[in-house]
Amino acid sequence: MQRVFSGIQPTGIPHLGNYLGAIRNWVTLQKDHDCLFCLVDMHSLTMPWSPEALREQTLASTACLLASGIDPTRLYNQSAVSAHARLGWIFNCVSRLGWLNRMTQFKDKAGKNRENHSAGLYVYPNLMAADILAFHATRVPVGDDQRQHLELANDIAQKFNHDMGVEFFPLIEPLIPPHAARVMSLRDGSKKMSKSDPSAQSRIILNDTADEIAQKIRKARTDAEPLPSEEAGLEGRPEARNLLTIYAAMSNKTLADVLTQFAGQGFGTFKQALADLLVETLAPVADETRRLMDDKAHLMQVLRQGAERARAVSEPIVSEAEKLVGF
Ligand code: ADP
Ligand code: NA
Repeated sequence: MQRVFSGIQPTGIPHLGNYLGAIRNWVTLQKDHDCLFCLVDMHSLTMPWSPEALREQTLASTACLLASGIDPTRLYNQSAVSAHARLGWIFNCVSRLGWLNRMTQFKDKAGKNRENHSAGLYVYPNLMAADILAFHATRVPVGDDQRQHLELANDIAQKFNHDMGVEFFPLIEPLIPPHAARVMSLRDGSKKMSKSDPSAQSRIILNDTADEIAQKIRKARTDAEPLPSEEAGLEGRPEARNLLTIYAAMSNKTLADVLTQFAGQGFGTFKQALADLLVETLAPVADETRRLMDDKAHLMQVLRQGAERARAVSEPIVSEAEKLVGF
């Protein structure tokens, strides 16, 4: 059975982009893969954070993932399993500055004020490589934004194998969904939907109520043209394309079918249909999330047991890597 690893930062409630780009596919994969799903709380320290909020959001994210259908035995948080930090340090010393300098996510997140960001933000992709390779995972279901980081992880694995003279780490295959792999902000079609966007209107989160979902879709930015009948008519209309792509992904239809369905209609009609569709799928997740949030002891117990399992899998692999480097 192929081993699957994937992670999500507990820096806020997961959003529709996380759901379509990652979580929904995790739920499918866990049926016939050996899966590990991780709340990567160590990655959450790469940007300014509040300890109280991080603790809260780790539990809230746990509730959201369980409510979305993630198997509780496969879920844990990164800082509870030392293999991540230990292999992460080794990879800091295997990875090259030149490789990190090419990472577009660092450039996006650091912006112009590069000197003032944490060193953690810069070496983040090395830790991400360790997250996956500490389990010898070979398949990593992620959104499109992680493609470059997975290429780097393969470069690190290959350099480690080459330098140590042994085929120790396997190659990783990204599993990026064919559609909706990059859901855009509801307020700005040029920006990815993200937990770190300061505008709460920019994203639908997995514990929004039905009213909140409907209101955010109603206010989502669009243009004045009616909906086109073909994809060519979406040229230069990123907001329209984004909403139609979300509709297609949520209804498991092709974009072409959705365009046929709504051709010539205004956004009013379409937005109402999209909001109904989102509420139908996400409102039950939100209800279950709120229910699970009331039992913090249970959520902590889920993470503790998940961490035990993750430790058992990663410990022999990382111990062997430590031997190989001469520890
Ligand atoms: P964020 O950028 O919102 O903090 P994370 O870095 O925690 O999200 O990413 C968790 C998973 O969700 C990753 O697999 C990532 O590729 C995916 N993901 C994040 N944002 C989007 C998006 N806008 N569209 C599709 N997938 C996304
Ligand atoms: Na991200």
